[in-house]
Amino acid sequence: MASILLITASPYGSSSRGAQLAMQAVTNLQAQNPRLTLIERDLSALADATIHSGYSDALIGGHSHDAEVFALSEHLIRELEDAAYLIVATPMHNYTVPATLKMWIDFVLRYGRSFAPVDGIKTGLLKDRPTLVVVTAGGIVSGAGRLQPDHLTGYLADVLATVGVRDLKFVYLDGLVNPARAEQVAADGAQSIAMDPVFGAKVMA
Ligand SMILES: Cc1cc2nc3c(=O)[nH]c(=O)nc-3n(C[C@H](O)[C@H](O)[C@H](O)COP(=O)(O)O)c2cc1C
Repeated sequence: MASILLITASPYGSSSRGAQLAMQAVTNLQAQNPRLTLIERDLSALADATIHSGYSDALIGGHSHDAEVFALSEHLIRELEDAAYLIVATPMHNYTVPATLKMWIDFVLRYGRSFAPVDGIKTGLLKDRPTLVVVTAGGIVSGAGRLQPDHLTGYLADVLATVGVRDLKFVYLDGLVNPARAEQVAADGAQSIAMDPVFGAKVMA
């Protein structure tokens, strides 16, 4: 059965502003297709996970995909593999992705499983699919008025492209420390989702 994979990387999980906006897209997709199931992956569960030496040895040693050491990696890759839509709600932490999202990346980008070299270039082995990334930030990290470096957008786009996911839409809820701006960007973000041809609310004729 087709699914939506919703990844939340905020320490506030589903109550974060980013996750709430992401849920608007989920609601729209399920309104269009009620058979779409929702897989929620709250990355707080990866807070204690790490790449240990056994994992590194298995990766470099080319151990088989069903090796016990790859169990978590395999589970996370399959969730992504099976998803018709990917939605990521992530805060910016120190100009880039939070540690838990980096952990997910380290488990999902697996040589020989989710990507492989073709003519020396890392090439994705997963199918492309429509993907929405909602970025939350305390400061202003997008647009002409950007006041901080943004090592999240390009990095996450490169990482997802490595496994074959290139059909990306980014929405920014930034400057959230300013309550007035927070209300405005939340409204703008909701409008941007509502109008989106894939994640938006379809108006019935
Ligand atoms: C460890 C940490 C690092 C952060 N780094 C940044 C940053 O680099 N730039 C920024 O604008 N906000 C930064 N913030 C603020 C968060 O991005 C902000 O609180 C955001 O609204 C959190 O959204 P959430 O509710 O989705 O978790 C940081 C917050 C934490 C906890």
